[in-house]
Amino acid sequence: MPLRILLTEAQIQARIKELGAQIDADYPNGALHLVCILKGAYVFLADLARSIKRDAYVEFMGISSYGKGKTSSGEVKVTKDLDHSVEGANVLIVEDIVDSGVTLTYLMQVLHQRKPKSVRIAALLDKPERRLRPVEVSYVGFKIPDEFVVGYGLDYGEKYRNLRDVCVLEEGAGPG
Ligand code: IMP
Ligand code: MG
Repeated sequence: MPLRILLTEAQIQARIKELGAQIDADYPNGALHLVCILKGAYVFLADLARSIKRDAYVEFMGISSYGKGKTSSGEVKVTKDLDHSVEGANVLIVEDIVDSGVTLTYLMQVLHQRKPKSVRIAALLDKPERRLRPVEVSYVGFKIPDEFVVGYGLDYGEKYRNLRDVCVLEEGAGPG
């Protein structure tokens, strides 16, 4: 398999415990509304939500920007909207990876229009070298180099989401 482990399951789990503790410490009392960005963040959401000790609500939002390849189409759209209002809520966006920042910049705009009390971002991975739009990410799991990664929710052509580690997909590999 043309996959190279970048972050092991144990490293990921240890870091998510730290993030959960930090989130618990940062927020005042009251519920947190976690907004999971489908599909890539579903595994991270499951672990992060369980590492947070306060009351948490879980919502899902679908955003598409990438199509089937490794590069962004540059076009962002909401493919599945929230089921409930987040007006007056402390919202934490849960995302798999920040790359160009285009997706999250757009999403922050959309969510601010819903009049939440606060909106912050938690991203498991950050590729700072690729940033085109500045975006403030309050909770970052790992900063990684500019390599295409899969596993732990992240895909290439919908494949590899169920891997327990985050792996680099080496050049020459295809989704088939
Ligand atoms: P951005 O708008 O360029 O920041 O793109 C963010 C989205 O692109 C993420 O939510 C991922 O779905 C996808 N993405 C970016 N880099 C990778 C990668 O290395 N592997 C898998 N998906 C990625
Ligand atoms: Mg995504």
